[in-house]
Amino acid sequence: MNALHHFIDDEGHYIKSHTILHTGNGVVVVQREDVAIKMAIVYKNDMLEKVEENRSKIRREQDVWRRIQPNFESPVEGIVHCLDLPGDTIEMRYMSGGTLSKWLKSRARPSIDLQREWFRQLTIGVHNLHQRRIIHSDILSRNVLLDGSLNLAICDFGASSIMPIGTIMADTVDEYNCSIWTDICQLGLVFYEIVTGRETGISLYYNSGGDNSVARFPPRDVLPVVGKRIWARDIIETCWRERGYGAAGAAGILAKLDKFQGRRHR
Ligand SMILES: Nc1ncnc2c1ncn2[C@@H]1O[C@H](COP(=O)(O)OP(=O)(O)OP(=O)(O)O)[C@@H](O)[C@H]1O
Ligand SMILES: [Mg+2]
Repeated sequence: MNALHHFIDDEGHYIKSHTILHTGNGVVVVQREDVAIKMAIVYKNDMLEKVEENRSKIRREQDVWRRIQPNFESPVEGIVHCLDLPGDTIEMRYMSGGTLSKWLKSRARPSIDLQREWFRQLTIGVHNLHQRRIIHSDILSRNVLLDGSLNLAICDFGASSIMPIGTIMADTVDEYNCSIWTDICQLGLVFYEIVTGRETGISLYYNSGGDNSVARFPPRDVLPVVGKRIWARDIIETCWRERGYGAAGAAGILAKLDKFQGRRHR
């Protein structure tokens, strides 16, 4: 690679290309031993405005992390562990299993027991976000990571909204019309993908003829059919009904999962 095309890290050093885990829209994620570092993409000859725009995306996401996990020593269940927020970077525990999206495409179907464990881990993660008054807005299987022991954790708060402390989340939408209900709908799509292995590609933003910068809760008929024999059918269908879990929100999914567990072991 020509030196001009190398990325530069927060301290002005070139980033070695073999350490790059991902390059996305204005951000790069690099691995340093057991740490993954998300930072703004900066090329040697970039204009200042461009650099500033990419850095400000990271600073926004840092604010979300500060709300979710105020203490670096105390990871939040179901969320990737944030280790530090130095400068304009986000340092996380490196998740060696990669993304759930990739895992599901390259492996055999997970057992029902593992599926159930994954549902629980993801639901706890979403519940913890909503309790902290965060709307994720981008719950997709490529924003779910696996550690080396097949545990799942949610990442990527680049599109998330920080709502005021004390907000009644069940009754609230953010400026893009996202809510705990659109989060739970997306969570249902990830559940569907875990159970069937099929990625749906359904977005909150494909509004036929309408404004694609405003999310809408997808009507049932644009969501896939869930076969009668699928163990999680009721859980998924309830995710896909706006306000389906009522005042409990994601905690309602945990209650259903517990009931299911109880039935199985009786
Ligand atoms: N802690 C981590 N451990 C391992 N890989 C990670 C970690 N954090 C991020 N990644 C990798 O980097 C990718 C991008 O991270 P993230 O989703 O936070 O960035 P993004 O640019 O906002 O993503 P998008 O492409 O969804 O806009 C992830 O899909 C994953 O492959
Ligand atoms: Mg992402």
